[in-house]
Amino acid sequence: MTVRILIVDDEPAQMRALCDTLGAHGYETIGRSSSEAALQALRADSYHLLLADLMLPGMDGIALVQAARALDPDLACVIMTGEGSISSAVQAMQVGALDYILKPFRVSVILPVLSRALETRRLRIQNVLLEARLREHAVQLVRMNDDLRTAQQQADRANQAKSAFLSHLSHELRTPLNAILGFAQILLSEKLASTEAQKKQFVGNILTGARHLLKLSNEVLDLAKIESGRLELHLEAVPVGDVLEECRTLVDPQARLRGIGMRCTSAEHLCVRADRMRLKQVLINLLSNAVKYNRDHGAISVQCTESGHDTVRIAVQDTGCGLSAEQQAALYQPFNRLGQESGSQDGCGLGLVLTKHLVEKMGGELGLVSTVGLGSTFWLTLPLAVAPVVIPSLAVLPTTHEEPAQSVTPAAGSTAVAD
Ligand SMILES: Nc1ncnc2c1ncn2[C@@H]1O[C@H](COP(=O)(O)OP(=O)(O)O)[C@@H](O)[C@H]1O
Ligand SMILES: [Mg+2]
Repeated sequence: MTVRILIVDDEPAQMRALCDTLGAHGYETIGRSSSEAALQALRADSYHLLLADLMLPGMDGIALVQAARALDPDLACVIMTGEGSISSAVQAMQVGALDYILKPFRVSVILPVLSRALETRRLRIQNVLLEARLREHAVQLVRMNDDLRTAQQQADRANQAKSAFLSHLSHELRTPLNAILGFAQILLSEKLASTEAQKKQFVGNILTGARHLLKLSNEVLDLAKIESGRLELHLEAVPVGDVLEECRTLVDPQARLRGIGMRCTSAEHLCVRADRMRLKQVLINLLSNAVKYNRDHGAISVQCTESGHDTVRIAVQDTGCGLSAEQQAALYQPFNRLGQESGSQDGCGLGLVLTKHLVEKMGGELGLVSTVGLGSTFWLTLPLAVAPVVIPSLAVLPTTHEEPAQSVTPAAGSTAVAD
């Protein structure tokens, strides 16, 4: 790229000589005879360097340098002066000129001054760019620092939550384990003779403690699987009516013990897209809660309806103690039993946390409407699924060869056990 130099001198012969000499050295030169004309040229076009005489009629060289740099801060300015006015040249440099040349000129002196000034201009521009980039980096660094701090805070909170979870868990493990150990020791003890009826009772207590531990460990394992993203779901079209009936059968004995009636209504052939085993786990959790936190001789009603375009809503309504607004706000916190710790109902406060995760993983929502003293309705939604088509004629077709009967393993862990 050719370097453009604007030369300002009111002596036409000198200006022409400068233009020709510098033009012969590869510069593109434009001459002007006054500061005003020079400023006009600067407004119309861009130049690399301004070579201005100090003494000019009207606006002098110093004022020109000042005005020119206001127009283009990158412009390199060099002042030409006679020997008598060096102090003015210094003044010009104070307002932004990079150098000065003493008259009369010699090419061997002018050329190095111009290349020095141009190099300074290049470095200045580079500096400005570097500074901008540095500022940008600084902003990025601040942003990264903020992100890091937020991540650190999140990690700290997660760590605290994990520690709280572990300390709750060890407490939950210790209570039934101590009971199991205590009753087993009494049974073994020769000094503490117990009747047959008492022995049966102690074994019963051991079984209760062991079941509690089994349920607890199953739920903790499920939660860990969900948190680490290892929970595998086998989503398929599941007929809600069938699954509800299976769950009702499992929870009914518990309900009967306390004279609680259970009624389930479901639109026929309604199917949801869900993992059958996990849906059962969810429904058993909600039904057993509806029994546990119900009043004696209360009622439970389960309603399954198509809600909206492609959603199924299952609502489990009870006539129990209900939950206050504060209790509802603290729902779904691991091990938080919302005051039931001292109650007669067994539990560890993980069921609803797990239920919520499972429902959400299957693409649904879990919610609650509750009034203290009247009861609660826990509801969930799941995506509607198209029922698999069964072709009746296929069922009676004779098979050409005998398939070995497949063994059906019962659903693992807590899923089949009502608490
Ligand atoms: N249907 C309900 N009616 C009243 N309170 C309930 C109901 N379901 C759950 N809760 C409250 O929510 C708490 C947490 O429930 P959950 O996670 O199932 O744990 P757990 O039943 O093991 O205590 C219960 O301890 C109870 O205080
Ligand atoms: Mg529960």
